[in-house]
Amino acid sequence: MLLFLSALLSAVRLALGASCSCSATSIPVHVDALVPKDPTDMFAGLKSNTSSLRRVDATYDIYGVFCQPEGVSSDTVQILVHGITYTSQYWSPPVEEFRNYSYAAFACNEGLPSLAIDSLGVGLSTRPANASDVQFPTASQAISQLARHLKTTPILPGARAFKNVVGIGHSAGSATLNFGAVSEGRDSPFDALVLTGSLSVAAGTLPPVNQFGSPARDVEPLRWAGLDPDYITDTDRGLFYPPNTNSFSSRMLAFDNFTKDVGTIGIFAQTPVTSLGNQFTGNVVKIVGSEDQLFCVGTGRCADVPTLVASERVLWPDAKSFDVVIVNGSGHDLNLDFFALKAFDTFVGFVQQFSSGT
Ligand SMILES: *[C@@H]1O[C@H](CO)[C@@H](O)[C@H](O)[C@H]1NC(C)=O
Ligand SMILES: *[C@@H]1O[C@H](CO)[C@@H](O)[C@H](O)[C@H]1NC(C)=O
Ligand SMILES: *[C@@H]1O[C@H](CO)[C@@H](O)[C@H](O)[C@H]1NC(C)=O
Ligand SMILES: *[C@@H]1O[C@H](CO)[C@@H](O)[C@H](O)[C@H]1NC(C)=O
Ligand SMILES: *[C@@H]1O[C@H](CO)[C@@H](O)[C@H](O)[C@H]1NC(C)=O
Repeated sequence: MLLFLSALLSAVRLALGASCSCSATSIPVHVDALVPKDPTDMFAGLKSNTSSLRRVDATYDIYGVFCQPEGVSSDTVQILVHGITYTSQYWSPPVEEFRNYSYAAFACNEGLPSLAIDSLGVGLSTRPANASDVQFPTASQAISQLARHLKTTPILPGARAFKNVVGIGHSAGSATLNFGAVSEGRDSPFDALVLTGSLSVAAGTLPPVNQFGSPARDVEPLRWAGLDPDYITDTDRGLFYPPNTNSFSSRMLAFDNFTKDVGTIGIFAQTPVTSLGNQFTGNVVKIVGSEDQLFCVGTGRCADVPTLVASERVLWPDAKSFDVVIVNGSGHDLNLDFFALKAFDTFVGFVQQFSSGT
């Protein structure tokens, strides 16, 4: 059984711009999911028999920052889901110098509300003691439960529930939303998905997890001593930026490194769920940067866009619409380099198109 308790709104307010107000919130979600006993199972249990699965039945608090344009009422809300070792701050770097890198503020100025969340196990959301409780089945169900909550319950006192929920992911956040499309199909609460920094990853093509990260407790004991070693963090974020160092601020890379968070072995190792077909029926677009060093640079995947669209589309046969867009110049972290505003404009364009029913 899946149910929500109540939404708790804190009084924290972050002023982004005159026309936009933001408040921090924490929403309890009940998750009841089957996860593989082995979190390195690349298909997250979807291809396993029941003897290799176990049940996680728990209630978690999911933290988020809700931003809405003042005086504009929207039927659509965006749930923003960061990538591995990031937090909700990916969508709104919380320092003066990088205010103009805020997708939440950009979208708000275009009349679109958003809820940027900290994923399960990350930031200010519940961090289960056992990292193997944080896998795609649990992380994805927590987000889908949030989406259902936003469709039934006003997030702020006196407001209305939303009619449409658009999931916008980045990297592992996109893969988490993608897992939900595979596992829930036509029952997904999402009306549309904007999957940034993500293309399908075939089985056997993912680098080993120790090339990506190390136990967070070893990297920064001051912050993470005592954590289950399957909570990992990375040590080099340069790959998330374009190879051309004139394309981004070195101060952004330093700030990004300084504010990194944790992810889990499961959320890394289960990325090949993105190569499974699904029955999702909403609108879908994948958006990647031409200078993405994980998916484009040196892979030959992004130069021939029609071929790329065709190969990705076969996984989404029932989608109302499907497209892949390459943003020229952007790296893997489309929000954090000098091409960010062009990327934001692309995201908002699709959200507006999807919420107008086309
Ligand atoms: C279930 O999966 C386990 C582990 O992969 C395997 O050893 C076992 O033979 C499978 N059982 C059945 C009935 O397929
Ligand atoms: C996490 O839970 C799994 C399944 O119950 C168990 O096998 C594993 O030992 C636990 N790990 C830790 C660090 O407690
Ligand atoms: C990133 O942070 C780590 C500490 O976690 C530090 O050792 C390293 O020098 C930093 N790298 C950069 C490029 O700032
Ligand atoms: C992409 O950007 C580069 C450098 O900014 C430019 O030289 C190139 O013409 C652009 N390509 C396209 C297809 O717009
Ligand atoms: C933000 O403003 C700075 C300083 O004007 C500029 O260098 C940077 O490119 C801007 N960032 C974005 C994403 O436009």
